[in-house]
Amino acid sequence: MEACHDRSILIMNDFLDSLGALDGTRAIDIAGGDGRVIKHLLRKRYSAVDCFDMCMESVKILEELRKNLECIEDVDQADMKSFEWQHQYSGIFLRWCIGYLTDEQLVDFLQLASAHLIPSRHRHRQTRSSRP
Ligand SMILES: C[S@@+](CC[C@H](N)C(=O)[O-])C[C@H]1O[C@@H](n2cnc3c(N)ncnc32)[C@H](O)[C@@H]1O
Repeated sequence: MEACHDRSILIMNDFLDSLGALDGTRAIDIAGGDGRVIKHLLRKRYSAVDCFDMCMESVKILEELRKNLECIEDVDQADMKSFEWQHQYSGIFLRWCIGYLTDEQLVDFLQLASAHLIPSRHRHRQTRSSRP
């Protein structure tokens, strides 16, 4: 796999490291595009990764990527506005993809996403212990 030169992914990686052991079994990459978030960030952290994108070109790229990356499970063509959640996730990642949603659609999406996020005991512990 080629080296990652995407600065924002490197920053996300450092940020996740700084949070401690947040890795989990299954994650989803929302609007996966060309799959760079999976390639350079998620495959190291999750044993299973689902992804979708509304654009068929991206879906084809993600399907190609799945042939080489064992962690990729479901690849779907779907829109964030109507995505049907099938699983609970340890991590839900979305980057550079909310621009086509209205504020209301974004709130609806985030509420659905949070209902499918497995709470992290580690994160809760950190939040409590970081209170003054
Ligand atoms: C700039 S790319 C970012 C791709 C990837 N998230 C990344 O960070 O590299 C934006 C992607 O979001 C997808 N997208 C935008 N709005 C979407 C929506 N409402 N539902 C699903 N995919 C969407 C586009 O098709 C495109 O592949």
